[in-house]
Amino acid sequence: MRLFKQLLAVFAALLVIGAILMTFAYDVIKIDWLVFMELQSSYDDQEQPLPVPARSVPVEGVAYLPGMGEPENPVPADETSIARGAELYQIHCAMCHGAGGKGDGTVAAFLVKKKPADLTSEAVQVKSDGSMFLTITNGIWNPNNTLFPEKQFSGQMPPLNENLSVRERWDVVNYLRTIAASE
Ligand code: HEC
Repeated sequence: MRLFKQLLAVFAALLVIGAILMTFAYDVIKIDWLVFMELQSSYDDQEQPLPVPARSVPVEGVAYLPGMGEPENPVPADETSIARGAELYQIHCAMCHGAGGKGDGTVAAFLVKKKPADLTSEAVQVKSDGSMFLTITNGIWNPNNTLFPEKQFSGQMPPLNENLSVRERWDVVNYLRTIAASE
Protein backbone atom coordinates (compact mmCIF):
# COMPACT_ATOMS: atom_id res chain seq x y z
CA MET A 1 0.00 0.00 0.00
CA ARG A 2 2.84 2.34 0.87
CA LEU A 3 4.53 1.55 -2.41
CA PHE A 4 1.32 2.40 -4.27
CA LYS A 5 1.06 5.78 -2.51
CA GLN A 6 4.72 6.51 -3.30
CA LEU A 7 4.18 5.63 -6.97
CA LEU A 8 1.11 7.88 -7.04
CA ALA A 9 3.13 10.75 -5.58
CA VAL A 10 5.85 10.25 -8.21
CA PHE A 11 3.25 10.24 -10.99
CA ALA A 12 1.60 13.36 -9.59
CA ALA A 13 4.96 15.14 -9.44
CA LEU A 14 5.79 14.07 -13.02
CA LEU A 15 2.38 15.29 -14.16
CA VAL A 16 2.93 18.72 -12.59
CA ILE A 17 6.43 19.04 -14.09
CA GLY A 18 5.09 17.85 -17.45
CA ALA A 19 2.25 20.38 -17.33
CA ILE A 20 4.69 23.21 -16.55
CA LEU A 21 6.99 22.17 -19.39
CA MET A 22 4.05 21.94 -21.80
CA THR A 23 3.11 25.57 -21.21
CA PHE A 24 6.48 26.56 -22.66
CA ALA A 25 6.19 24.07 -25.49
CA TYR A 26 3.19 25.97 -26.88
CA ASP A 27 3.81 26.59 -30.60
CA VAL A 28 7.01 24.49 -30.44
CA ILE A 29 5.40 21.08 -30.48
CA LYS A 30 2.78 21.53 -33.18
CA ILE A 31 -0.01 19.04 -33.50
CA ASP A 32 -1.77 19.31 -36.84
CA TRP A 33 -5.41 19.00 -35.86
CA LEU A 34 -7.85 18.42 -38.66
CA VAL A 35 -9.45 21.81 -39.36
CA PHE A 36 -12.41 21.80 -41.68
CA MET A 37 -11.41 25.12 -43.23
CA GLU A 38 -8.43 23.30 -44.74
CA LEU A 39 -10.75 21.12 -46.73
CA GLN A 40 -12.44 23.90 -48.72
CA SER A 41 -11.35 24.80 -52.25
CA SER A 42 -9.45 28.02 -51.82
CA TYR A 43 -6.44 29.59 -53.46
CA ASP A 44 -3.18 30.92 -52.07
CA ASP A 45 -1.72 34.41 -52.08
CA GLN A 46 -0.67 35.62 -55.53
CA GLU A 47 -2.42 32.75 -57.25
CA GLN A 48 -4.63 33.39 -60.25
CA PRO A 49 -8.30 33.60 -59.25
CA LEU A 50 -10.36 30.45 -59.69
CA PRO A 51 -11.71 30.14 -63.23
CA VAL A 52 -15.35 31.09 -63.66
CA PRO A 53 -17.77 28.16 -63.82
CA ALA A 54 -18.62 26.89 -67.29
CA ARG A 55 -21.71 28.48 -68.89
CA SER A 56 -21.72 31.46 -66.50
CA VAL A 57 -22.25 34.93 -67.99
CA PRO A 58 -20.51 38.06 -66.64
CA VAL A 59 -22.87 40.71 -65.20
CA GLU A 60 -21.35 43.21 -67.63
CA GLY A 61 -22.64 41.25 -70.61
CA VAL A 62 -21.81 38.34 -72.84
CA ALA A 63 -19.58 40.53 -75.07
CA TYR A 64 -16.82 40.37 -72.47
CA LEU A 65 -16.45 36.61 -72.54
CA PRO A 66 -13.10 35.42 -73.86
CA GLY A 67 -13.30 34.26 -77.44
CA MET A 68 -16.36 36.36 -78.28
CA GLY A 69 -14.40 38.77 -80.49
CA GLU A 70 -13.96 42.52 -80.12
CA PRO A 71 -16.88 44.22 -78.34
CA GLU A 72 -18.51 47.42 -79.67
CA ASN A 73 -17.85 50.61 -77.68
CA PRO A 74 -21.16 51.34 -75.88
CA VAL A 75 -19.92 54.55 -74.21
CA PRO A 76 -20.26 57.79 -76.23
CA ALA A 77 -17.01 59.79 -76.32
CA ASP A 78 -18.49 62.87 -74.67
CA GLU A 79 -16.70 65.39 -72.45
CA THR A 80 -17.45 63.48 -69.23
CA SER A 81 -16.16 60.18 -70.56
CA ILE A 82 -12.96 61.71 -71.94
CA ALA A 83 -12.32 63.67 -68.72
CA ARG A 84 -12.78 60.51 -66.67
CA GLY A 85 -10.59 58.56 -69.07
CA ALA A 86 -7.83 61.17 -68.80
CA GLU A 87 -7.85 60.92 -65.02
CA LEU A 88 -7.87 57.10 -65.03
CA TYR A 89 -5.12 57.05 -67.64
CA GLN A 90 -2.82 59.11 -65.41
CA ILE A 91 -3.47 56.67 -62.53
CA HIS A 92 -3.30 53.31 -64.32
CA CYS A 93 -1.31 53.74 -67.53
CA ALA A 94 0.98 56.79 -67.34
CA MET A 95 3.68 55.06 -65.28
CA CYS A 96 4.39 52.83 -68.28
CA HIS A 97 3.02 54.65 -71.32
CA GLY A 98 4.03 58.13 -70.15
CA ALA A 99 1.88 61.15 -69.30
CA GLY A 100 1.59 62.03 -72.99
CA GLY A 101 1.23 58.43 -74.18
CA LYS A 102 4.62 58.31 -75.89
CA GLY A 103 5.65 55.10 -74.12
CA ASP A 104 8.17 56.92 -71.92
CA GLY A 105 6.74 56.45 -68.40
CA THR A 106 8.99 56.01 -65.37
CA VAL A 107 8.47 52.24 -65.32
CA ALA A 108 9.29 51.90 -69.02
CA ALA A 109 13.03 52.03 -68.30
CA PHE A 110 12.73 48.81 -66.29
CA LEU A 111 10.81 46.85 -68.90
CA VAL A 112 13.62 45.12 -70.75
CA LYS A 113 11.83 42.69 -73.04
CA LYS A 114 9.22 44.96 -74.59
CA LYS A 115 8.83 48.70 -74.22
CA PRO A 116 5.35 50.14 -73.69
CA ALA A 117 3.70 51.04 -76.97
CA ASP A 118 3.58 54.65 -78.16
CA LEU A 119 -0.18 55.18 -77.86
CA THR A 120 -0.10 58.24 -80.11
CA SER A 121 1.42 56.19 -82.93
CA GLU A 122 -0.46 55.19 -86.06
CA ALA A 123 0.12 51.49 -85.28
CA VAL A 124 -1.94 51.80 -82.08
CA GLN A 125 -4.47 54.38 -83.25
CA VAL A 126 -5.62 52.20 -86.19
CA LYS A 127 -6.77 49.55 -83.72
CA SER A 128 -10.50 49.38 -83.02
CA ASP A 129 -11.99 50.54 -79.71
CA GLY A 130 -12.83 46.93 -78.91
CA SER A 131 -9.26 45.83 -79.53
CA MET A 132 -7.94 48.49 -77.11
CA PHE A 133 -10.59 47.46 -74.61
CA LEU A 134 -9.39 43.86 -74.77
CA THR A 135 -5.75 44.96 -74.43
CA ILE A 136 -6.61 46.77 -71.19
CA THR A 137 -8.76 43.84 -70.02
CA ASN A 138 -6.37 40.97 -70.77
CA GLY A 139 -2.99 42.67 -71.02
CA ILE A 140 -0.58 41.44 -73.63
CA TRP A 141 0.46 37.90 -72.98
CA ASN A 142 3.76 36.37 -73.79
CA PRO A 143 3.00 32.80 -74.86
CA ASN A 144 6.72 31.99 -74.76
CA ASN A 145 6.98 32.49 -71.02
CA THR A 146 7.45 28.85 -70.06
CA LEU A 147 9.12 29.74 -66.78
CA PHE A 148 5.92 31.09 -65.23
CA PRO A 149 3.10 29.76 -67.40
CA GLU A 150 0.57 31.35 -65.06
CA LYS A 151 2.27 34.71 -65.54
CA GLN A 152 2.54 34.70 -69.29
CA PHE A 153 2.07 38.46 -69.40
CA SER A 154 5.16 39.15 -67.28
CA GLY A 155 7.54 41.67 -68.79
CA GLN A 156 4.87 42.96 -71.10
CA MET A 157 1.53 44.52 -70.33
CA PRO A 158 -0.39 43.16 -67.33
CA PRO A 159 -4.16 42.66 -67.46
CA LEU A 160 -5.89 45.61 -65.76
CA ASN A 161 -9.40 44.17 -65.55
CA GLU A 162 -9.22 44.18 -61.76
CA ASN A 163 -8.13 47.82 -61.62
CA LEU A 164 -10.71 49.27 -63.99
CA SER A 165 -14.42 48.48 -64.27
CA VAL A 166 -15.83 47.88 -67.76
CA ARG A 167 -17.21 51.43 -67.96
CA GLU A 168 -13.86 52.86 -66.81
CA ARG A 169 -12.02 50.89 -69.51
CA TRP A 170 -14.23 52.41 -72.20
CA ASP A 171 -13.61 55.89 -70.73
CA VAL A 172 -9.86 55.25 -71.07
CA VAL A 173 -10.33 54.06 -74.68
CA ASN A 174 -12.29 57.25 -75.47
CA TYR A 175 -9.46 59.28 -73.95
CA LEU A 176 -6.82 57.40 -75.96
CA ARG A 177 -8.53 58.65 -79.16
CA THR A 178 -7.79 62.24 -78.11
CA ILE A 179 -4.21 61.60 -76.94
CA ALA A 180 -2.63 61.84 -80.41
CA ALA A 181 -4.49 65.06 -81.24
CA SER A 182 -3.44 66.75 -78.00
CA GLU A 183 0.21 66.88 -79.08
C1 HEC B 1 3.34 47.68 -66.56
C2 HEC B 1 3.39 48.60 -67.64
C3 HEC B 1 2.11 48.91 -68.41
C4 HEC B 1 0.93 49.44 -67.92
C5 HEC B 1 0.59 49.81 -66.50
C6 HEC B 1 0.08 49.60 -69.07
N1 HEC B 1 0.69 49.15 -70.19
FE1 HEC B 1 -0.05 49.17 -72.07
N2 HEC B 1 1.60 48.26 -72.78
C7 HEC B 1 2.72 47.93 -72.02
C8 HEC B 1 3.70 47.28 -72.86
C9 HEC B 1 5.05 46.78 -72.40
C10 HEC B 1 3.13 47.21 -74.16
C11 HEC B 1 3.76 46.60 -75.40
C12 HEC B 1 3.55 45.12 -75.32
C13 HEC B 1 3.95 44.42 -76.55
O1 HEC B 1 4.17 45.06 -77.58
O2 HEC B 1 4.02 43.19 -76.47
C14 HEC B 1 1.81 47.84 -74.06
C15 HEC B 1 0.95 47.99 -75.14
C16 HEC B 1 -0.25 48.68 -75.11
C17 HEC B 1 -1.12 48.94 -76.24
C18 HEC B 1 -0.86 48.49 -77.68
C19 HEC B 1 -1.58 47.22 -77.88
C20 HEC B 1 -1.30 46.58 -79.20
O3 HEC B 1 -2.14 45.78 -79.60
O4 HEC B 1 -0.27 46.87 -79.81
C21 HEC B 1 -2.19 49.67 -75.79
C22 HEC B 1 -3.39 50.17 -76.61
C23 HEC B 1 -1.99 49.86 -74.37
N3 HEC B 1 -0.82 49.25 -74.00
C24 HEC B 1 -2.86 50.56 -73.55
C25 HEC B 1 -2.72 50.67 -72.17
C26 HEC B 1 -3.67 51.35 -71.33
C27 HEC B 1 -4.91 52.07 -71.81
C28 HEC B 1 -3.21 51.22 -70.05
C29 HEC B 1 -3.88 51.71 -68.78
C30 HEC B 1 -5.24 51.32 -68.57
C31 HEC B 1 -1.96 50.48 -70.10
N4 HEC B 1 -1.71 50.16 -71.40
C32 HEC B 1 -1.19 50.16 -68.99
C33 HEC B 1 2.90 48.18 -70.68
C34 HEC B 1 1.94 48.72 -69.83
